[in-house]
Amino acid sequence: MSRNFISTIDLTRSDLEQLLESAVRFKKGEDTSRPLAGQSVALVFFNPSLRTRASMQVGIFQLGGEAVVLEPGGTSWTLEHRDGVVMDGDKTEHVAEFVRVLERYCSAIGVRTFAALKNWEEERTDPVINSFLKHASVPIINLESAMHHPCQAMADMLTIREKLGPGRKRVVLTWAWHPKPLPMAVPNSFALAAAQIGHDLTIAHPEDYDLDEALIATLSNRASEAGGTVSVVNDIDAAFQDADVIYAKSWGAKRSYGNTEQEIISRARYRKRWIVDEEKMERTNNAIFMHCLPVRRNVIVTDAVIDSPRSVVIDEAENRLHVQKAILKNLMA
Ligand code: CP
Repeated sequence: MSRNFISTIDLTRSDLEQLLESAVRFKKGEDTSRPLAGQSVALVFFNPSLRTRASMQVGIFQLGGEAVVLEPGGTSWTLEHRDGVVMDGDKTEHVAEFVRVLERYCSAIGVRTFAALKNWEEERTDPVINSFLKHASVPIINLESAMHHPCQAMADMLTIREKLGPGRKRVVLTWAWHPKPLPMAVPNSFALAAAQIGHDLTIAHPEDYDLDEALIATLSNRASEAGGTVSVVNDIDAAFQDADVIYAKSWGAKRSYGNTEQEIISRARYRKRWIVDEEKMERTNNAIFMHCLPVRRNVIVTDAVIDSPRSVVIDEAENRLHVQKAILKNLMA
């Protein structure tokens, strides 16, 4: 397996299966190993977090290590990631020094750095986490970058398997209305991992909300290799028909990337239709409801759905802990 954990794109299906099996052993208490004993792991948060931060800190502790949490611009200096810039603005330290100092203390570095939603062509290259990769000699773990959230996707795959058993499932990733545009990391990583595992994946979104073309091409290839399928539809009712899994997430349109005001106006027409409610869930094959959280109730999903027995969002959040312990053990043991 790769010495970093940036996207599941770098992993084979067999790698994914091994990580899921390892996560199950941690969850069942069958693996109580402490491969991080005496080691520290830096967790760098450019953006807020509940689940990622808490589950990483707890997981590192349970593996015998210690977490060092840093917030550039808050509890540590503001950080520049671009090469060759004259740093006469608001950035105090460069990633080049930040990383090389940190790795004198820590055995791995986790990084959370959301898309700024300003420049699609630039952000689709994931520039901040790539700057960490360029300068680091210790493993880098993606805790959600502009384009990928692989720890979330692995927890999602574990949750589907735990709730519905192994094998191919009808998995729907549905866009939902949200008052403002959000990054694409979660839908990208969920779709990619579902395809790699070999599920029958339907991605439902209104016109103009296509995910990255190159990513769709890659995940379509991975689905074929794994014996699954991928389809993209603009009809939310058709998408829900006979689904086993409904995974809701909102994201921004590439067309209006960098123009939030325009995006807010153009998406308003989808508010009433693009929500997960009981009526749509009735069309499914008694599907489980999933969301990475945090979620806006009665915006993305109704209270009736998220509070129903089919909602697995809390178990999904718990599974972040178990898969991240598997990922850390694999990278650092
Ligand atoms: N799902 C997720 O990554 O949650 P946080 O943003 O709270 O870490």
